[in-house]
Amino acid sequence: MASASFHAPRGTRDLLPENLLRTLLMEEAAREVARRGGYGEIRPPLFEETKLFSRSLGNQSDVVEKEMFTVLRRGEASEDSWTFRPEGTAGVVRAYIEAGCPASAPFQKWFYMGPMFRYERPQKGRERQFQQFGVEVFGSKSPLLDAEIVDGAMQFFEALGFGPELEARVNTMGDESDRAEWRQSLLSYFEPHLDARCEDCRSRFKRNVFRLLDCKNDACISGNQGAPALTTVMGKEASEHHTAFLMGLERLGRKPKIDGSLVRGLDYYSRTVFEIHYPPLGARSALCGGGRYDGLVELLGGPPTPAIGFAAGFTSTELAMEEMGLPANADVIAAQAAFAPAVYCLAIGEEDREAAFAAAHECRSAGLSTAIDYRNRSAKAQFKEANRLSVPFVFVIGPDEREQGVVLLRDMVNGEEEKIPLDEAVSRLAAEL
Ligand code: HAM
Repeated sequence: MASASFHAPRGTRDLLPENLLRTLLMEEAAREVARRGGYGEIRPPLFEETKLFSRSLGNQSDVVEKEMFTVLRRGEASEDSWTFRPEGTAGVVRAYIEAGCPASAPFQKWFYMGPMFRYERPQKGRERQFQQFGVEVFGSKSPLLDAEIVDGAMQFFEALGFGPELEARVNTMGDESDRAEWRQSLLSYFEPHLDARCEDCRSRFKRNVFRLLDCKNDACISGNQGAPALTTVMGKEASEHHTAFLMGLERLGRKPKIDGSLVRGLDYYSRTVFEIHYPPLGARSALCGGGRYDGLVELLGGPPTPAIGFAAGFTSTELAMEEMGLPANADVIAAQAAFAPAVYCLAIGEEDREAAFAAAHECRSAGLSTAIDYRNRSAKAQFKEANRLSVPFVFVIGPDEREQGVVLLRDMVNGEEEKIPLDEAVSRLAAEL
């Protein structure tokens, strides 16, 4: 085989038909969860003004600092650029404001699905182009909505066959004033011990001290034991919100893990934050992340509008499914059967090909998935191909059939054969299959 001269860019991959099944199942589960929750689909562009991301995710976040796929605008000032979306929330918020929703219809439930781009070091579970399914809800402060959002994210994974190993980790980031106070206490707490921290922690100390709390380095984890918790400075409203959110989850039968070290890597969060993990994946076990971002609509130029959402990543979800042996064999067989052709139009000789070609058109027009040979293969080879494709019916067309204006309809399961007019054979199969 000739070796390829071109390769998919590092951190990307081709999803060929034979390994697309899990992606299709994830898309189906996402649409089902969105339908149940009353979400409308939104499809914003794949790239936006770079400033949209730096303002919303935070200039100092890892994503904005190191991971943006940015394209300079031609012939314009170099600070004007576009960036391929590293996540969905910022573009959706921009669209919400631009469509005038805050004034006309502030309560919105939207979902999206599609590729995101982050210039990360490719590794297991991390790609430079990856797919997310996300939801965003605008216009409600209700802590019960927070519980619904976490529950919806869990339902997505459960629809795919995930069981009790799935873990929802929840925390609160409080309100902005709470975070300002908490930031100060964390800075004072960590400063004397900075030398003992890893390089990531030292660089994050000034940029985003909260991130020291979710460092995965063992020595840093033990250094976090006595760090001041947000709950010690959190105001009454944010505390009540958190309690009501946890009660809401309990009401839905969810038993989340309360994790004070969960802080998320993007700047826009306030109050509820959460992640869904599949612990057997180890350090990169987060399948989904989300939370409230009550200040973001205003930050991007809209009126104060509470909002919350999540995004599930397909890459790690696929890895977890692989680990669990999902989908089950029966589902794989059912999916393959759904894509397999229902009819094979077989030409006995060269002079029969045109009739087989026209018959295939008739079948497809009637909605039947139909295969036909375009490689001048013998009748025997075409039969072999029909068997390989597990096609249930073959229309055999030879000189006799053409002369009599019929096809030989062969049932490949029981071997029965019958000569009938093409239109009758087509309508019978269309009704049956
Ligand atoms: P995030 O935690 O940055 O949140 O991403 C959500 C999920 O996307 C992660 O849990 C992970 O599964 C997946 N993911 C992220 N980066 C990569 C990558 N380089 N390769 C493969 N998978 C990746 C957000 O994106 C927020 N917009 C979520 C949100 C929506 N918050 C509120 N609304």
